[in-house]
Amino acid sequence: MIHYNERENSFHLSTGKTSYIIAIHKNAYPLHMYWGRRVYGDDVMWALDAPYRRYARIMQPGPDEPAYTHEFFPWEYPDFGTGDFRPAAYSVIDPNGDNYSDARYVGYRILDGKPPLEGLPSVNAMPEDGVETLVISLYDEKLRLAVDLYYTVYEKYDVIARHTEFRYDGEEPSYLTKALSVSIDAPQGFDEMIQLCGSALREKHIVRRPIANGTTGFGSIRGVSSHQETPFAALVGKNTTEHTGEAWAMTLVYSGNFSVTADCDPYGSVRVQMGINETDFRWQLTKGSTFITPEALLVYSGEGLNGMSHTFHTLLRERVGRGSWTDKERPVLLNTWEACYFTFDHDHVMKLAQAAKKAGMELLVLDDGWFGHRDNATSSLGDWFVDKKKLPRGLKALADDINALGLKFGLWFEPEMISVDSELYKAHPDWCLHVADRKRSEWRDQLYLDLSRADVQEYIIDSLTEVLSCANIEYVKWDNNRRMSEAGSDLLPRERKGEVYHRYVLGLYRVLDILTKRFPDILWENCSSGGARFDVGMMCYFAQNWASDDTDGTARLKIQYGSSLLMPPVWITSHISECPNHQLGRTTPLSYREHSSMPFNMGYELNMLRMTDEELAMTNEQVKRYKALRRMIQFGEFTRLQDPFDGENCAWQTVSEDGREVLVWYYKPFVQPEEAYLRVFPTGLDEKAEYTDTVTGRVLTGSMIMQIGLPIDWHNGDSFSQMWHLIKK
Ligand code: GLA
Repeated sequence: MIHYNERENSFHLSTGKTSYIIAIHKNAYPLHMYWGRRVYGDDVMWALDAPYRRYARIMQPGPDEPAYTHEFFPWEYPDFGTGDFRPAAYSVIDPNGDNYSDARYVGYRILDGKPPLEGLPSVNAMPEDGVETLVISLYDEKLRLAVDLYYTVYEKYDVIARHTEFRYDGEEPSYLTKALSVSIDAPQGFDEMIQLCGSALREKHIVRRPIANGTTGFGSIRGVSSHQETPFAALVGKNTTEHTGEAWAMTLVYSGNFSVTADCDPYGSVRVQMGINETDFRWQLTKGSTFITPEALLVYSGEGLNGMSHTFHTLLRERVGRGSWTDKERPVLLNTWEACYFTFDHDHVMKLAQAAKKAGMELLVLDDGWFGHRDNATSSLGDWFVDKKKLPRGLKALADDINALGLKFGLWFEPEMISVDSELYKAHPDWCLHVADRKRSEWRDQLYLDLSRADVQEYIIDSLTEVLSCANIEYVKWDNNRRMSEAGSDLLPRERKGEVYHRYVLGLYRVLDILTKRFPDILWENCSSGGARFDVGMMCYFAQNWASDDTDGTARLKIQYGSSLLMPPVWITSHISECPNHQLGRTTPLSYREHSSMPFNMGYELNMLRMTDEELAMTNEQVKRYKALRRMIQFGEFTRLQDPFDGENCAWQTVSEDGREVLVWYYKPFVQPEEAYLRVFPTGLDEKAEYTDTVTGRVLTGSMIMQIGLPIDWHNGDSFSQMWHLIKK
């Protein structure tokens, strides 16, 4: 997997289908030589041959000669101030105030397995994965700073995980003002960049834009990865489609401020970078201290965007996350939020639970409003004790009663927040993020607890442990409903104020690490006003994620389509809600809402007590159908077939793990006049094998289905959907 070529001082990292090659220039600086489809062979330095000036530079003298220049080369982790003139991968202000770095190669190590990233989540490596890790060590003598570049090669998964570790040895403090996880110089260039962006209720919409001279980029400075942007990018060719062409994709295992940039120079080569956002980042390095960047995951696909997604889905589903739920089918739940918001009591919740049970559901989730005196969003965050007005017999009695029906019980928390109207705020007004003598902005009537503080971390760990131990709580929804402003911390000294955002994230990871290890059998669901923090960092602790507060069946198509570029369907929870829809006011058929949710992690979020008998009977059928098919839905191979960002209509499919069954869904949100011959074209079937369409009973070969397509029924009216279940004979 990792081959060192002594002759050239180069490293060839190979996964099943891809190669990544690094060479050390003049025994000093790592060059990025190649990343893409697997190549065979050893020597690679010839690839620097180029007409014009670049070649002359290769011939130049050693790096200590004044004539040595850094411009034009494809660097692997570029320094700052040396004359490269493109964005650096890291920068350091030394004790004199100078900003200059020059870390030179000192050696390499190849490790079996993967060392953990202290304090940060990362992708697991199991012994049977046989992964190897290359560490390239650089050292800046003047700064007395070691820079170790880590590359873990997952051959079986076709993924490379990268991060950097800094170790400081200087007597006086220096400051790290930029420390990215990945930097890649692609001499061949990329044409376009795909990103996932949006807003609340409109998460992970796909945007594809050209890369042109200068910088193309995006990021978040909201303290969380955000609704607006996702720490993910795919660099693609102009002709890359869902099924064909190349994609170079990366995602960050991180949940705070981040940036992604593609910097295109006048020669068309592109420097792609991803990591912690530099805005307000200033990390003090003291003698003996280390700084570890978050991990980045690199995926190359020669088989279009679906090829990229298949690789991400398999790795993330199997090697990200912890606890006992990773490999288990997720239960069908009823969530009380859209059913009754803040207005409920023990009996009302029980009635909902009874209806859920009757429909075959498996888990009742009590959402916001069960604690303190929280009758609306203005109070009680931080006061994690039960509201006896609503639940006079407490959580244990409620959980017991729900369990007695044969349902699991789950509970909502928003642990990182504090309401000004709370007992906690009265006791600890200094526990929130704030800047002294400045306004404290209350977004959704709440403030952020300062998770950079150990005492605040302990409070959250203790108060949640107490609640989770008081009753049989088998599911937790961990919410986060505001973004950071006035991000100051009382306990940090002046010279460490630039550390708050990152220390917050580290504090959050510590809390999550302890709680998810303490309660490994709980099904942990991540949420942040829907998908404001739906990133791989958070998903290292959670088994599923509430993808959006928008539960409209049509709006969900784009949100889920975009999310699936990166995230496996089992992580994407999708609830059938009532109509008119609470966010958009649209009415769609119940069967359409089922089809919209079903290819993902399906659940319900509506007042079943208001449903007609006919709707209840349909719900019963839906739950039965989902449970029968969910193994293949949650663990099969998901492929996008028709892009709703290109004309609204949408289609996707799932193939079971054994390849014998195929589910296909098609959606037509808006009727059009006089359309003929609409078809959907499944992929990945066995060409000569015969498949039975379980609805029509028709038997067709895989090649016919793929080439001629499945005809779509005619239907007058909006919100049409159709589903096929094909079984191989
Ligand atoms: C957020 C979540 C919702 C719900 C509410 C409760 O908006 O995304 O699902 O839990 O909070 O306040």
